[in-house]
Amino acid sequence: MTTIFYSSNTGTTRRYAELLSEKTGCPCLPLDKWENAETDDAVFLGWVFGGDIQGLKQMKETGLPLRAVGAVGIMAQDKDAVREKNCPDLPFYFLPGAFDLKKLKGMYKLMAGMIVKVIKNKLREAPNEESEKILGFFENGIDLFSEDALAPLVEKLTA
Ligand SMILES: Cc1cc2nc3c(=O)[nH]c(=O)nc-3n(C[C@H](O)[C@H](O)[C@H](O)COP(=O)(O)O)c2cc1C
Repeated sequence: MTTIFYSSNTGTTRRYAELLSEKTGCPCLPLDKWENAETDDAVFLGWVFGGDIQGLKQMKETGLPLRAVGAVGIMAQDKDAVREKNCPDLPFYFLPGAFDLKKLKGMYKLMAGMIVKVIKNKLREAPNEESEKILGFFENGIDLFSEDALAPLVEKLTA
């Protein structure tokens, strides 16, 4: 049996994990409850923060065999770099995330403010459409959650 473990800050990754669970029949659990699972192997879904998949290191430390990794983020153009940095040897799925400044607290809120500043500085030096778009996501919020984006991972787990 496979268990879906996840790490989520504002709920989007949890939403994907619960939908994946519904579609595959595999149970899902937050990563910090991994010791409660009786499972042969794992799928991990984590949100992307500064190019890192949150929780993946801890997931690997459990020693459970990993069948696949899902990365939930709002910068789809960086997905190859995220894969290369975090898990080049595993089946990898990028899932479009959501961003809402109102849901952020503490360090994450500060970091989001810093990201906005960095993007604005970069845009002053070199205007480009992609960065304008990402800046809009961070400033105005965005919800890119997509049931369709989950289909390849559902197929992998049910094939
Ligand atoms: C401080 C911060 C940094 C982020 N950095 C990235 C990033 O490097 N790449 C990306 O694709 N998304 C980034 N995001 C967007 C999140 O990955 C996205 O909002 C995700 O859906 C959050 O998942 P959650 O709702 O499960 O916490 C960042 C969000 C925050 C708050």
